[in-house]
Amino acid sequence: MSPNRHIIESQQFTPESIIKLFELALRFERGEKLKPLEEKIVATLFYEPSTRTRLSFESAVLRLGGKVISTENAKEFSSASKGETIEDTIRVIGGYVDAIVLRHYEVGAARRASLVSPVPIINAGDGVGQHPTQALLDAYTIYKRFGRLNNLTIQFIGDLANGRTVRSLVYLLSKFPNNRFIFVSPKILRMRDDILEYLIKHQIDYIETEEIQTDDVDVNYITRIQKERFGDNLEVFESVFGKYVIDNELADKFPITSIIMHPLPRVNEISTDVDSNLRAVYFKQAKNGLYVRMAILDQVVAEESFLFAA
Ligand code: CP
Repeated sequence: MSPNRHIIESQQFTPESIIKLFELALRFERGEKLKPLEEKIVATLFYEPSTRTRLSFESAVLRLGGKVISTENAKEFSSASKGETIEDTIRVIGGYVDAIVLRHYEVGAARRASLVSPVPIINAGDGVGQHPTQALLDAYTIYKRFGRLNNLTIQFIGDLANGRTVRSLVYLLSKFPNNRFIFVSPKILRMRDDILEYLIKHQIDYIETEEIQTDDVDVNYITRIQKERFGDNLEVFESVFGKYVIDNELADKFPITSIIMHPLPRVNEISTDVDSNLRAVYFKQAKNGLYVRMAILDQVVAEESFLFAA
């Protein structure tokens, strides 16, 4: 196994490798039993809270025959609390395990970790940077519903400035032709310039607005306004909290063929009455994370992998 099989950002994948990954995820979803992680140990090292990402990765490891060691609150319960750098921590843990799933509060932490790690690093979210495995499971959810990842209009709603899942998904879907993005947010939570510059450079169609669109949209991707990213600026948080709420009345105005997604956790931005709406797929989306992460882990340890450049 190559130690260079890191998953750091969505831009690293090719469209062909993404579709192959989905074919593999589908095999796991259909119940195929493979044990590529037998004799392997994976560490899940989380410096920020998580429900879905950590537990779906851990479930994926166990289902693939591997073992897990975990620090669910590494900021407090690892030697980071004594001042150890992420580089030193990774060098040490890299000697104990075969891969590390890392969530950290600093943008770029996964890349820094990958530069010193003797084993693959999987970025499970780096601050407001990226969350590439979430983007893969989001795209898998879209692919299963529409049978394609091109010619789609995707509306992102909410905290686009701090939403790492949104950032990773935009980069991922930009790899497929004729997609169009609608970015809906309060002005202070606009999509960041690096993404907009990327879209302009690659001549990808997008608009920015403060109003939710209900026509001509395939995917509605709602995000939480992330209180934890506002620090002491609670007044600013409160000025935007609750600005966008999808209730069933609004959900029914979206095209019947469209879907409503959310990376979860939600707070108040999707009412629970939407959960039974035909368009709502966010709990299926979360479940898809298990199969996609099984496929990712399979490729991280495979002798020959289609997911990583040779
Ligand atoms: N979507 C997501 O990353 O959820 P968790 O924070 O619960 O892992």
